[in-house]
Amino acid sequence: MNRNANELAYSAQQIDVDDDLDDIVAGLERDQKMISPKYFYDERGSQLFDEITRLPEYYPTATEIGIMEDNIADIADLIGERASLIEFGAGSSIKIRILLEHLKSLAAYVPVDISDEHLLAAADGLRKDYPHIEILPIAADFTQPFDLPTPSVMPLRNIVYFPGSTIGNFTPEGALELLKVMYHEAKEDGALLIGVDLQKDVRILERAYNDSKGVTAAFNLNMLRHLNRDYGADFDLDAFRHRAVYNSVDGRIELYLDSTAEQTVHMAGSTIRIAEGEAILTEYSHKYTLQSFAELAAKAGFEVRQVWMDAERLFSVQYCVRV
Ligand code: AVJ
Repeated sequence: MNRNANELAYSAQQIDVDDDLDDIVAGLERDQKMISPKYFYDERGSQLFDEITRLPEYYPTATEIGIMEDNIADIADLIGERASLIEFGAGSSIKIRILLEHLKSLAAYVPVDISDEHLLAAADGLRKDYPHIEILPIAADFTQPFDLPTPSVMPLRNIVYFPGSTIGNFTPEGALELLKVMYHEAKEDGALLIGVDLQKDVRILERAYNDSKGVTAAFNLNMLRHLNRDYGADFDLDAFRHRAVYNSVDGRIELYLDSTAEQTVHMAGSTIRIAEGEAILTEYSHKYTLQSFAELAAKAGFEVRQVWMDAERLFSVQYCVRV
C-alpha cells in the first residue's frame, strides 16, 4: 500500500489491511499453516499469473478460450437477447471480450471485483472497444450477496459469468456458498456460465503446477515477498521451496511453500515459528468430474443445461440454469 498517499483518502483501505493482517497471522498460527491465495495477486503476482497462463504445461487458460471460441454461437443462443452479464472477479479480458463481441444486444456488462483499482482500469479498457455496451463495475466481495446496479435497458435475464475455474480455489463448502450467492444474483430466469477444470491424469495436473521454467514456483514464492513489502512481514524467501501435489482423495492440486530450515517470522507483532520441512498451504485447485460438479451445482439450486469441452476433455464450460 502506498504510504505516501493522503491518509484520509486511503483510510478505508487501511481498515482492510488490518483485517488482512489478522487473517494472515491467524492462518499462520494454525496446525496446518495456510495463507489465502488472494495474497498471490499483487502487481508482480498478477504478471506472473499472466505468464503462467501462457505456459505450454498450463492447459486451463488456452483450453477454456478454445472452448469458448468453438462454441460461441451456441453460448450466445442460450444466453439470448438483452441479458445482463455479471462477471464474478474481473480478470480475464480475453474471455470476456469473446462474449462481448458475440452476445446479441447485451443490456449491460457488470464486472464485480474486490479491488476497485483493477476493476476500473479494466472497465475503461473495455469501454474504449465496446462503446455501445453499458459497463457498470461494482467493487464488492462477491462471496457475500451484493446489490446489482440498474442498467438503463431493462435486462431480460441475468447471466453470472465465472471463468478460469476460480471455483477450484474454494473448498466444497466454500464453493457451495459461492454458488448460492450466484444463484441469488442470477435472479429469476437467470443462469450461470462457469469454467470448471476437470479431473484427469495426475501427470498432466502436476505438470501444470510444476512448470519447467519455474514460473509457478516464482508465483508461489512471490506471495511471501508481497507479505514482506505490504504487510511488514520478514519472510526469508531463500528458505522456502515451491511444491504442488495432487491430492486424489479430495480431487485437488495443493500448493505449498516448504520451509527448508527452522526459522522465525515476524508479522504484526506476532512471532511465528516454522520447523524445517514444515509446509505453508497457499492454494487449493479443485478438479471436478461432470457428475461431481453437477451435484454441487444442484445443491445451490442450479441444473446443468449444457457442457462444452475440448476434445481431450481437459476443461469444461458449463451453462447452469436456476430451477
Ligand atoms: C486462478 C485459481 C484458476 O488454480 O489453476 C495457477 C491459479 N495457481 N497456477 C488455478 C494457479 C497456480 C489458478 N486459478
